[in-house]
Amino acid sequence: MELQDKVAIVTGASSGIGRAIAKALSGAGCKVALASRNIQKLNDLQDELKNKSLVVRMDVTDSESVEGAFKDIWDEFGEVHILVNCAGVMPLTYLKNQHLEEWLETIEVNVKGTLRCINAVLPAMKNQMNGHIINIASVDGIEVFKGGAVYGASKAAVIALSRAMRMELSPEFNIRVTSIEPGTVATNLRDDITDKELLEEKDYSGNEPKLEPQNIADAVLYAVSQPNSVNVNELMIKPTGKA
Ligand SMILES: NC(=O)c1ccc[n+]([C@@H]2O[C@H](COP(=O)([O-])OP(=O)(O)OC[C@H]3O[C@@H](n4cnc5c(N)ncnc54)[C@H](OP(=O)(O)O)[C@@H]3O)[C@@H](O)[C@H]2O)c1
Repeated sequence: MELQDKVAIVTGASSGIGRAIAKALSGAGCKVALASRNIQKLNDLQDELKNKSLVVRMDVTDSESVEGAFKDIWDEFGEVHILVNCAGVMPLTYLKNQHLEEWLETIEVNVKGTLRCINAVLPAMKNQMNGHIINIASVDGIEVFKGGAVYGASKAAVIALSRAMRMELSPEFNIRVTSIEPGTVATNLRDDITDKELLEEKDYSGNEPKLEPQNIADAVLYAVSQPNSVNVNELMIKPTGKA
């Protein structure tokens, strides 16, 4: 697909993977709506972009906030071609330590937040009979581990959702759907973890192999720049050296 002047919305654009995706899409010619809660960081990113862009405050846990942000994007651009659902949290915990509020927040942001954004973008994409929704899932939605029960469940939900979205939205509305499943990426995501026992046992201070956010942005670019007749269903990406 020719990306010049296509309108892309990136949630979680203030940091890490979402930031890299927003920059990459803008660099490829898209008009990008930069969405998250931290306006200062989004403004800083906007200053780095050469193409037209829009900063929108969006809290994906709040339906009104999501609907309002999508209305602002629609008012500005009048069309939308790409939605990248990247906003996410990862407060890993051992179940025995009962971090209920963090478990619920994980589902609220990673699953319900993704659903809110899909719901908000669908009227435009259905009407256009065209669109591409990219969900940033995780390898943790496929390969489970101790401490990753709720986060993994949230990403397994996103992967299952993406597969069914394709079945429903691709034949009837020409909407493409891609699930991207990264392994460990060098971002601040682990700062969400408060479970002391888990932090002591996992010891994240070592030099484990990691991807860079740009590697995931490259995968997004690959998926969106395919011809309209090609749907890249799923991409699992791990750092070399990781089992
Ligand atoms: N890093 C990894 O190893 C890895 C691996 C696989 C998948 N992923 C996934 O990649 C995505 C991005 O993570 P990252 O690694 O780039 O982490 P990050 O640097 O911590 O970025 C998380 C992003 O999510 C946004 N966010 C969090 N809560 C939000 C909310 N309630 N409303 C709107 N935005 C919210 C944050 O923006 P604000 O704080 O400005 O709202 C931030 O932009 C996540 O879905 C994560 O699960 C990451």
